[in-house]
Amino acid sequence: MAKHSNRKNRIGILTGGGDCAGINAVIRAVAKKAIHDYDMEIVGIEDGYEGAVHNRFRKLSNRDVSGILTLGGTILGTTKKVNPYRYAIKKGEDFEYKDMSKVTVKNIRKMGLDCLVVIGGDGTLGIAYKLFNDGIPVVGVPKTIDNDILGTDLTFGFDTAVSIATEGIDRLHSTAQSHHRVMVVEVMGHNAGWLALCSGIAGGGDIILIPEIPYSMEKIIDKVKERHRTGKRFSIVVVAEGAKPKGGAVVIQRMVKESSDPIRLGGIGFVLGDQIEKLTGFETRSVVMGHLQRGGTPTAFDRILATQLGSKAVDMAANKDYGSMVAMNNSKLITIKLQDVAKGHRSVPVDHPLIKTAISLGTCFGVS
Ligand code: F6P
Repeated sequence: MAKHSNRKNRIGILTGGGDCAGINAVIRAVAKKAIHDYDMEIVGIEDGYEGAVHNRFRKLSNRDVSGILTLGGTILGTTKKVNPYRYAIKKGEDFEYKDMSKVTVKNIRKMGLDCLVVIGGDGTLGIAYKLFNDGIPVVGVPKTIDNDILGTDLTFGFDTAVSIATEGIDRLHSTAQSHHRVMVVEVMGHNAGWLALCSGIAGGGDIILIPEIPYSMEKIIDKVKERHRTGKRFSIVVVAEGAKPKGGAVVIQRMVKESSDPIRLGGIGFVLGDQIEKLTGFETRSVVMGHLQRGGTPTAFDRILATQLGSKAVDMAANKDYGSMVAMNNSKLITIKLQDVAKGHRSVPVDHPLIKTAISLGTCFGVS
């Protein structure tokens, strides 16, 4: 982007998509590193791409990012509904869609950014890739509790979400045991099973159901009954919101028409709980972990990961490594092209070592 010789380099930060723990830790790392190591200026765009479309941004100083390492959410605000390439405008009960990308590109140029650091999940980073193709120098940072971004083994926010879901499962264990009940816990994760798999293993779930392995109701019932027969009069079922029966469909909680990804999953836990109770005769309760998994203070692991990712993103900006995302590969920080990130989402391989380990301990995945 055009650079005026007597001014400092300027980095913009935008946070898009669903929030999670650790976003502020990334914002802090980007701003502190850019100021400390490169004497750059920092600009924060407000409310994700909404702020880029409407030219809403503010300068961030060292003081603005001080004390936010442990803070949940994002100090810049975010939205899951705005796509500048398909901007929804309310028309009565419905929406009309307009391409606002040219205005967005113009606004970002006017902000005088040398690089825009986009912190987001697959949807947000897909839009960042389009902006890159339209001439905006972009660097991506992978963020989501779903851990489903292509090209990185880990996203920040995931570890915190796993810890929260695990604590929930731990607390359900005692009540399940006391009442001899089946407890079904629905966790988020979108169309990927990482969150259910990891919290299910950490929480000692007896049955773990993930989108990548469509389940058979019969196998679930067999497992619950077998546990009762062998003296375990309670069972814990951890189900991903995107799980579905063999030959069946996901349960949709709501449609958010104006969003580019309008389907909001949710409700499988209640459907499954009712079926289990009916088919086994055992009292069953269902709990949805929901947005609790996205809130609050990041774990130490996520703070460290967020700090590393944010710091590396600034180096990438300084080295003009645009159109790329910082990623974690075998515990090493690498960079990967946004073109490859935008190709889809990262599912759990059905032969993942964690699944094999859990099966070897007797955990049921609804298939055997
Ligand atoms: O992508 C993060 C996520 O929390 C998913 O796990 C979940 O499916 C979705 O966002 C929920 O979206 P919303 O915040 O619109 O309810």
